[in-house]
Amino acid sequence: MSIDTETGKEAPAQISSERVKDILSSIAKKYERFNAVSSFGAYKLWLKHMMKLADIGHDDDVLDVAGGTGDVAFAVARAKRPRHIQLTDLVPEMLEVARYHVERENKNCGVPIDFQVVDAQDMPFDDESYEAVTMAYGIRNMPDRERALSEIFRVLKPGGQLICLEFSTPTNALWRALYNFYLAHMIPFWGGLITGDKSGFVYLSKSIKAFPDQKTFAAMLRAAGFSDVSWKNLTGGIAAVHTARKK
Ligand SMILES: C[S@@+](CC[C@H](N)C(=O)[O-])C[C@H]1O[C@@H](n2cnc3c(N)ncnc32)[C@H](O)[C@@H]1O
Repeated sequence: MSIDTETGKEAPAQISSERVKDILSSIAKKYERFNAVSSFGAYKLWLKHMMKLADIGHDDDVLDVAGGTGDVAFAVARAKRPRHIQLTDLVPEMLEVARYHVERENKNCGVPIDFQVVDAQDMPFDDESYEAVTMAYGIRNMPDRERALSEIFRVLKPGGQLICLEFSTPTNALWRALYNFYLAHMIPFWGGLITGDKSGFVYLSKSIKAFPDQKTFAAMLRAAGFSDVSWKNLTGGIAAVHTARKK
């Protein structure tokens, strides 16, 4: 089933895919600045937690799904020094920024990285190709999440791990209310200030609210075939890192 990622309601996949391409291709160069400012630096801290939970060794082949401008791939390269990273994303403009970081700034720390435009819901990779798949803030933007998760399951080797960082649902009611206020008012404000276009950030806030909570997403992972599904809440559940294995 496909949904509108802004509302969570059933809708043709094309609506969400076209919207996300429009938004990300136009803000690609300002995306990182927005992340740093709007999260008060929490983004970097959450990435560190993601790396702590990632079981990635030096001989591993890693697939970064919805890798955007490369932050997750670079964190993996720095922390784990795997054999190779395949950095993929739907939007070429995002990958161009990642490529710049590698070619001009050596952010890959010498780890070989290949870039490829890939729709995570239909991946051009063979079954059982990767020891680990990483994905940060990607699945929320995909209209057919069941299909994306089953594609990730398919390309993982037996024993392989998915490490997925995503916005989630704060567990404490007061914290949740404050966060919802921040989402509705401050995210569009920062977005408008930094990129000059508020609309993409109204979408961001709505898509975060419409995304399933920790338990529901864990159930989706189990339904896709994953075992050992668990999660760690970050900043009181504003975000969560889900980990899961292909047995
Ligand atoms: C919020 S960004 C996250 C980028 C990066 N993972 C990070 O942590 O900075 C979401 C990314 O998901 C990508 N994306 C959205 N739908 C996708 C799909 N169906 N397949 C692959 N990537 C997709 C977007 O192009 C965008 O780069």
